Amino acid sequence: MIKKYTIGSPIETFAVVKKLTSEPKESFPLSLETGEKTVISFEIGENDAVYGLGEASRGINKRGWVYESWCSDETNHTEDKKALYGAHNFIVVSGKKKFGLFVDFPSKIEWDICYSKTNEVKITLFGGDADLYYIDGETERGITREFRELIGKSYIPPFWAFGYQQSCWGYAKQEDFFGVRDSHRENNLPLDCIYMDIDYMDAFKDFTVNHELFPDFESFVSDMKAHNIHLIPIIDAGVKKQTGYSVYDEGHEKGYFCKDEDGNEFECGVWPGIVGLPDFLNKDAREWFGSQYKTLTDMGIDGFWNDMNEPALFYSVKGLKKAHKKLDELRKKDIDIWSFFGMKDAVLGVQNSMEDYSSFYHSTDGGRVCHKDVHNLYGAFMTKAASDFFEKEFGSEKTLLFSRASYIGAHRGSGIWFGDNFSWWSHILLNLKMLPSVNMCGFLYCGADLGGFNNNCTEDLLLRWLALGVFTPLMRNHRALGTRAQEAYQFEHTEWFADVLAVRYRLIPYLYKTFRRCADEGDMMFRPLAFDYPDDEIAKQVEDQLMLGDECMIAPIYEQNKNGRYVYLPEDMTLVKLSGEKIEKQKLSKGLHYIEVKLSEVPLFIRNGKQIPLAAPALNTAELRRDELIFI
Ligand code: GLC
Repeated sequence: MIKKYTIGSPIETFAVVKKLTSEPKESFPLSLETGEKTVISFEIGENDAVYGLGEASRGINKRGWVYESWCSDETNHTEDKKALYGAHNFIVVSGKKKFGLFVDFPSKIEWDICYSKTNEVKITLFGGDADLYYIDGETERGITREFRELIGKSYIPPFWAFGYQQSCWGYAKQEDFFGVRDSHRENNLPLDCIYMDIDYMDAFKDFTVNHELFPDFESFVSDMKAHNIHLIPIIDAGVKKQTGYSVYDEGHEKGYFCKDEDGNEFECGVWPGIVGLPDFLNKDAREWFGSQYKTLTDMGIDGFWNDMNEPALFYSVKGLKKAHKKLDELRKKDIDIWSFFGMKDAVLGVQNSMEDYSSFYHSTDGGRVCHKDVHNLYGAFMTKAASDFFEKEFGSEKTLLFSRASYIGAHRGSGIWFGDNFSWWSHILLNLKMLPSVNMCGFLYCGADLGGFNNNCTEDLLLRWLALGVFTPLMRNHRALGTRAQEAYQFEHTEWFADVLAVRYRLIPYLYKTFRRCADEGDMMFRPLAFDYPDDEIAKQVEDQLMLGDECMIAPIYEQNKNGRYVYLPEDMTLVKLSGEKIEKQKLSKGLHYIEVKLSEVPLFIRNGKQIPLAAPALNTAELRRDELIFI
């Protein structure tokens, strides 16, 4: 049962599709203080858990930390971080009393989840206009389903988006792409997509192609398609400010870029240098930006990833001037340690500064709005620009789209990826922990940069990470410019990679069917064990295993130099080790087990009385025989 409570006059966020009438705010079941800030607080039991918050650091059970909803261009996904790229304001409290809470509020929120006080949750909204949704229910899964009905059906990508995908910031010329395609083929490694990072553009300008690198882009795209490879270009939020560049000229003429206080275009620096930020909160600007994707779809492109849309600001022109001034002042002084730190702060502080986010404006239907008050909608509305256009132009399930920044609501038009992680073992586990949380918030098509974005990857790290990635709807290997090459064929035992990737294709019919069911029913593809075994005190503590669909449990290995791991079975299950064509099965009883898993194997647990289908391995989704299945 969902109840809605409205405070002040909230802005339309498009998060909710089901229209409900607001209850009087006095009857809100939790403590509520209103004013310049809105504070919701409540006590929870000692052993109660709090789930949700989507893309965030730390555990599946969010207890014990303070998180922030503030879409952030944050490359260090360490435990001290309060905010990452998405703002997913939904939690489920699980104790004797169970309930869900969705805070539909587009600016900053602080979630103190038993951080300041052991048994208290305190949620502070930095503003006084919001819609609050309180959901009563019997089970965590049921509450989540009800919430998902409220926010509408999750995005379903084209079928081929379930294939394996290779990406790298640094593939520049078309020969690089041919090389990636052919090397996968030669090594018996399946592949469905290759990503085009900012290098494909002319001077990092959105919706342009560098013709020196790609003399005939259209033929290049169709040549790749003929080999069953989809090319997926990146689109960044900022539009290079350059007269003569038609996208900028048009946006400028129509007044579609965000303005500063004086009504001048807000200027900031990202990859192309100085850019204008399209005003995605303005309906006309949004439609205009969406229609720009046509330049690339006309050339055969059918997938995109939207980036830097928190929005990421390397600096603003004003902020940089201020920093320069500070440095000039300091230069004239004898430098003591405090002025040294002052200098450091002046330089580092120019990036993604609150001062900048507070200094530009959107022109919405309801009038001028300061960016900081709607910050968390920016990336979601960029995504909406694209997904509305694709829907109108091609219909649903035709175009692949996922975004870095997001807000609930964007889950209807796109997926997300988890941004710039590191080639660290701990990030395999972080990847796993985020899956159920983002599923709760509607994002089903998701995944992390497999192998890690920053830092150098190793063979064993990639193999173990892929053994988790075979289950995630988005299965993409991506890395940063200048890091060690990490395509599957770059390592010593290419055949081990072929074995692991073959498992993905064997599982696609099962994963796809499960994905569709979860989208249709508002269900989660990945769940904490606690959701399925609420009376099992051990299962409730498990943070490194997940339930997948109604049939399976997964427990990847996420530590180096380990030949296996301990796995807790909340019921009797069958351990299945998959590797290439090989299937090894072993019945295990409820309890704790040490299981050994080779680097070339993918472990999977099938629940008692359940079965899953397997296809024969294939080198791409077009060649996958979805009708010839065996069951295990
Ligand atoms: C951002 C993205 C990353 C991309 C890079 C260059 O850091 O998160 O995936 O490779 O920009 O475009």
